[in-house]
Amino acid sequence: MGTFREPPPRPFLKWVGGKRQLLPKLLNAVEAAGPFRHYHEPFLGGGALFFSLARTGRIKARSYLSDANSSLIDAYHGVRDESEAVIELLDEHKLAHSEAHFYAVRASVPRKLAKRAARIIYLNKTCYNGLYRENSKGQFNAPFGRYKNPLICDRENLRAVAQTLRDVDLAVRDFSQVSAVAQPGDLVYFDPPYAPVSKTADFTAYVRGGFGADAQERLAETCAELAERGVRVILSNSMTDLTRRLYGESFYTYEVSASRRVNSRADRRGKVSEALITSFPVRGDGRLAAETRPVDRDRRAAGNIPGPSAAEPAVIVRRLARQWLLENRYQDVAALIDEVTRQWKVEGKQTRRNWWQVLAGDAKGNPRVVAGRRFPVLRAAQLRMGMPVTSGAICRNPDEEVPPVTVTGRWRKSL
Ligand SMILES: C[S@@+](CC[C@H](N)C(=O)[O-])C[C@H]1O[C@@H](n2cnc3c(N)ncnc32)[C@H](O)[C@@H]1O
Repeated sequence: MGTFREPPPRPFLKWVGGKRQLLPKLLNAVEAAGPFRHYHEPFLGGGALFFSLARTGRIKARSYLSDANSSLIDAYHGVRDESEAVIELLDEHKLAHSEAHFYAVRASVPRKLAKRAARIIYLNKTCYNGLYRENSKGQFNAPFGRYKNPLICDRENLRAVAQTLRDVDLAVRDFSQVSAVAQPGDLVYFDPPYAPVSKTADFTAYVRGGFGADAQERLAETCAELAERGVRVILSNSMTDLTRRLYGESFYTYEVSASRRVNSRADRRGKVSEALITSFPVRGDGRLAAETRPVDRDRRAAGNIPGPSAAEPAVIVRRLARQWLLENRYQDVAALIDEVTRQWKVEGKQTRRNWWQVLAGDAKGNPRVVAGRRFPVLRAAQLRMGMPVTSGAICRNPDEEVPPVTVTGRWRKSL
């Protein structure tokens, strides 16, 4: 039985964490975001959502696609700028295809763009499990895959992809740099390497590719900064305590179920919960709504949480850290924040930080350094961020209350 294939343009690489399964829910979220200007995907991978939006005519202006993996972006550049040369080279790989040829190509380091792109596509289509993987040195290291008839050169799709990418900005960069490019009214979809799901994994646990808790926290700050500036944000992640802590307060968080197929252990395949996080409310309909449920629905129904109602616009939950510091004998800390923000202004930077997160310290309770200044770790900030209170955390005012959560726009108080 043949597998159903979407019409072109569709992802031309199979990528770890590809989003085809979640696609209907992501498209529903894009619908809820309303019209947007530029589309940004800073964890591009196979680009499942981008191609789906392009196919259905949702992309109206220049898109910005990027990833930290330079081999991946090479493949996109090659297909966009030299598609016919890439197709020719893939035809040659197809004729020469064998285990020996695979390993020879794997060991090669071509200099020309078209050759680099064709190498990556060829390896991706023929390696074990069909997934392009690199070791810590950035070398492709998946073994030969035994496929009867791998589709090495899908020329119709490659040409459609080249056409779709014509006016697209492609870059190798860290996700955080999207802040310098995205404008109010744009839409950003973040699909990071997922936060560790194991119950025993703590905040210092690392996932393959080095995207650890620190990177997850940096990502949450980037999302908050964008949302505050009126950029619409969609993020997919695993549903973990870390995810809840980082986004539960400020964003709309939905739980969606997906089958996880890429796991070497059969007992770990099956349905898993994933988080769909947005800076605006998403209402599904029918089956989709049932599968996409607000995480804290039950607690909200019991009146414990000020959950965003469907009628509300994008809501950012925050309480100004600076104001709370001034009210609670932390004038020196507020002054430190002022110094840093003044410095950023002089340097012409638009950087913003979630100061509660800074003042909560890192996952081990160590102080954070921002713009060369070391910030003390405050007990109240750790409590507010839902983190365990560490022994070195400061509490100057025995009567101080954990800063309440306030919803901007409506100023509703919680708890
Ligand atoms: C889950 S995959 C994205 C999958 C993609 N949405 C798809 O449909 O195939 C995550 C991607 O993040 C990239 N990545 C990892 N760390 C990064 C960072 N700091 N900045 C930007 N991209 C990063 C990886 O190279 C990988 O391509």
